Amino acid sequence: MSSKVIPVADLRYGSVVPDVSGPLIAPNGLLEDTLGRPLKDLRISVTDRCNFRCVYCMPRAVFDQNYAFLPHASLLNFEEIERAARIFVAHGVEKIRLTGGEPLLRKNLEVLIEKLARLETPSGHALDLTLTTNGSLLARKARSLKDAGLSRVTVSLDALDEPLFKRMNDADFPVADVLHGIDVALAVGLAPLKINMVVKRGTNDHEILPMARHFKDSGAILRFIEYMDVGASNGWNMAEVLRSADVIARIDAELPLLPLGRQAAGETAQRWRYADGPGEIGVISSVTQAFCHACTRARLSTEGRLYLCLFANRGYDLRTLLRDGASDAQVETALAHVWHGRTDRYSELRAQPADTGAVTVSVDPGRVEMSYIGG
Ligand code: GTP
Ligand code: 5AD
Ligand code: SF4
Ligand code: SF4
Repeated sequence: MSSKVIPVADLRYGSVVPDVSGPLIAPNGLLEDTLGRPLKDLRISVTDRCNFRCVYCMPRAVFDQNYAFLPHASLLNFEEIERAARIFVAHGVEKIRLTGGEPLLRKNLEVLIEKLARLETPSGHALDLTLTTNGSLLARKARSLKDAGLSRVTVSLDALDEPLFKRMNDADFPVADVLHGIDVALAVGLAPLKINMVVKRGTNDHEILPMARHFKDSGAILRFIEYMDVGASNGWNMAEVLRSADVIARIDAELPLLPLGRQAAGETAQRWRYADGPGEIGVISSVTQAFCHACTRARLSTEGRLYLCLFANRGYDLRTLLRDGASDAQVETALAHVWHGRTDRYSELRAQPADTGAVTVSVDPGRVEMSYIGG
């Protein structure tokens, strides 16, 4: 089933307001798209701003003082986010991840977390409530985030080597502060804590083993992410991708690994553990082994647009519905229509035989940026 849509003008990325006329569809906790994929995860971006300028995400040449970040009035407020989240949960969402930009830059984020932590799935379970952060404010905020009801955190960290880390964040931010943030988060029990390292061949791939050694006995789960062609501004090039298979081979040669099974359907990471004792790692292979067939993720942008794929170039304007008097039942119906019509599987369609390295991509300049939609 597909929804009738009314195009609206937009200066940033294309979006449409879903049609809410017609019969209502009451949520039953299970919404499936055209490929039978249920809606299970919601990633909510709470700001498009960041205090880092990671070269692969917000290159300084593009995100400079002239870049038009969203004005405050465009952002969904906490009541709007909570209302949208409740509707997603009624339709089956069990995990909510707050993202950015850098989500800890959003003022009073704890107030939003308190609201989201009170939501329950239709069967009465608490949500898996987490966020992705660059760690710069984590030492200061970990305790209040935990007290507000956050379950866990994922910290992005691409290198331990100080000059390299600073080159990659392009904000002169010291690695010791992020490591301290991770320690504080572990100490207050934001667990399981995950560390995401984007691997760029020729830039930070020599940090794979030092990172593995550093986090092996820390209690944190380190995940290596294939550098993706997300957005339109990072100048992505296949030659800079290091395949997850190579990451595993490099680690296994020094620190033998054993494969672990999947924990949940739709999981992004393939999991491994060290053969000689504690410690888990993961690899996220969205370039060489796309996982769209089990993709259960929806994304809500800072200004309330629903995106069905990280690589989408068109969103669904939920903010207009939320602000212009649509009832909960109407928004639920709109969401059902949109998800029912979902066909997205960008990474699978883009994939070429990986061993030839012959991945060709034409980057659509209208494609949303990671900093706008969250990771
Ligand atoms: P956990 O629940 O902690 O396992 O989180 P997750 O792996 O679902 O989310 P996380 O934000 O930690 O994802 C890690 C990275 O995987 C992201 O930064 C992206 O680079 C990539 N990723 C996550 N979701 C998707 C997706 O739907 N499609 C693609 N292509 N990549 C994704
Ligand atoms: N490829 C892979 N991962 C990326 N991230 C940002 N840009 C990219 C990219 N081009 C990840 C970061 C962070 C999250 C917000 O998204 O590692 O964990
Ligand atoms: Fe900021 Fe994260 Fe993007 Fe880096 S990857 S610029 S920390 S949003
Ligand atoms: Fe899901 Fe799109 Fe990522 Fe595929 S590329 S896993 S459909 S978000």
